[in-house]
Amino acid sequence: MEKSKTILITRQYPDIGIDLLKDQGFHLKFWPMERPMTPEELVEHAQDCDAVLCTLTEKIDKTFLDRSSHLDMISQFAVGFDNIDVDHATRLGIPVGYTPDVMTEATTDIAFGLMIATARKMVFNHKKILRGEWGSFTPKDHLGMELMGKTLGIFGMGRIGMKMSLRCRGAYDMDILYCSRNPYPEAEERLNARRVDFHQLLAQSDVVSAHCPLTPETRGIFNGEAFSRMKSSAIFINTARGPVHNEPELIRALESGEIWGAGLDVTDPEPMDRDNPLLSMENVCVLPHIGSATQEARDGMSRRAAKNIIEFYRTGSMPHMVNPQVLEK
Ligand code: DGY
Repeated sequence: MEKSKTILITRQYPDIGIDLLKDQGFHLKFWPMERPMTPEELVEHAQDCDAVLCTLTEKIDKTFLDRSSHLDMISQFAVGFDNIDVDHATRLGIPVGYTPDVMTEATTDIAFGLMIATARKMVFNHKKILRGEWGSFTPKDHLGMELMGKTLGIFGMGRIGMKMSLRCRGAYDMDILYCSRNPYPEAEERLNARRVDFHQLLAQSDVVSAHCPLTPETRGIFNGEAFSRMKSSAIFINTARGPVHNEPELIRALESGEIWGAGLDVTDPEPMDRDNPLLSMENVCVLPHIGSATQEARDGMSRRAAKNIIEFYRTGSMPHMVNPQVLEK
């Protein structure tokens, strides 16, 4: 590097990637607060920087990009990048990196854990103890459901959907259906998974688990109509992005018994209000977006986000890039 490049570090990321950047001689400009920057602060702080290391709390929209078109690149610390207007970054010629793969195991554990916790009402029963309501053994109270031999429906079959399918087949001998834009031969070969359309997925699955990116096509796809097509005994799991489901309509479907339960690691909005009715429902488990929150996954994300920056300045390309067409221009 002829001149040391300045990277805006928007949050407190694991040291492993930050140290890699320091070792390579980058000048790092840290946002020191715990809270994310406001859009105005983000524009202001990016003005004297060459690149930004950011995550889903930063709104990298058209307004930001137009005011920050001097940036050489953007490195996103996440596999999802719906906070970034990638089309506009591409129009402006700004390459965007991301961090796939490294959180696959961690996120799958949360989807799998939510499925079991919901089926057995674990969070609700834990809250009963906290309220001092652990009475005597009651043969008919708060009964859950078993998962053995049930049908799993994956919406958006990719790396995490595949791992979820493997866990569910291994643990509960579940049949696997999936609905995806493209066939996923590995799931068909290893698990005899069947690719079906969205309506078949909804009608035939006992557990429907969303693993898709948030796009204009998937925004709100799990709405009242979709829930009305599901089995009344079905569980809905979302570890993808909150806006993939329509939350008021999900609440209505649970209240009316159109579906049986829900396990959510993502909500709309985030953070969720503490008086949201989902938090007091017996058949619902909600977590605060912790899919990738393991030491291993977050270290992997930090390393990958840093390597995207280092490689970009070394070679002009990066190992994990969202919009490689920028480099073809
Ligand atoms: C992602 O990577 O997109 C997760 O939602 C946060 O780790």
